[in-house]
Amino acid sequence: MQKTLLELKDLTIRFGGLIAVNKFNAQINVGEAVGLIGPNGAGKTTAFNLIAGVYAPTEGKVIFDGEDITGLKPYDVCRKGIGRTFQVVKPFGKMTVLQNIMVGAFINTPKPKEAKQVAVEIMGKIGLQSKSDSLARNLTIPERKRLEMAKALATKPKLLLLDEVLAGLNPTEIEEAIMLIKSINREGITVLMIEHVLQATMAICNRILVLDYGKKIAEGTPKEVTSNIDVIKAYLGDEYEDVKN
Ligand SMILES: Nc1ncnc2c1ncn2[C@@H]1O[C@H](COP(=O)(O)OP(=O)(O)OP(=O)(O)O)[C@@H](O)[C@H]1O
Ligand SMILES: [Mg+2]
Repeated sequence: MQKTLLELKDLTIRFGGLIAVNKFNAQINVGEAVGLIGPNGAGKTTAFNLIAGVYAPTEGKVIFDGEDITGLKPYDVCRKGIGRTFQVVKPFGKMTVLQNIMVGAFINTPKPKEAKQVAVEIMGKIGLQSKSDSLARNLTIPERKRLEMAKALATKPKLLLLDEVLAGLNPTEIEEAIMLIKSINREGITVLMIEHVLQATMAICNRILVLDYGKKIAEGTPKEVTSNIDVIKAYLGDEYEDVKN
């Protein structure tokens, strides 16, 4: 039987008069790669912020690995096993790539030697070895996106939340990133990813959730979701025609 890793129950947040996430229910099983798509402003990043503890929900619950983690602070959510990347990448610019990744590893160990070991291993996986001593602020956009993933992976997450890690990449870089995310998922890390690059979402994810105005309007396999008339109306439109042709 499949084990549920993350469960969202009626997850809701209001910012003044705006309900950014509105009774969002979802279940993510161990080992899945699930996409979260929807138009700009649909509430995708806000949903991540609710899961990661940046905001406490107005209503609803976040259950992770059988435990109610609603309202925990980001640091504690991370320690429970949820790693996340930021849509707007936030490296520590004056620190090297290695040091940036070590910051993630320090969540599980106080020992620099152990943190370094973890960071070096992850640099290898992510393909940033040659940049180990570069200052993060000197990295190119694709390298920064990789560093974001490396920092999150260094926390040794069970669940990895990826917020538009393919944005700003060229087609070759997107292909490479797809392979990387697939290999992370194959190694047993459950993935929930926000992505506007639909072909990539379809290539990586076994299931897709669609948000529109804070509400989940559809859920299913990539094929089911892309043929759902509500999704086409709300989001896919012309872009979907490109994918089909
Ligand atoms: N801290 C906040 N205070 C007030 N409104 C907010 C806050 N954070 C997000 N919002 C609003 O909530 C809505 C959802 O924003 P969110 O960033 O979650 O969208 P998104 O689906 O990630 O969009 P995009 O695809 O453009 O990244 C938007 O209307 C946004 O302006
Ligand atoms: Mg967003």
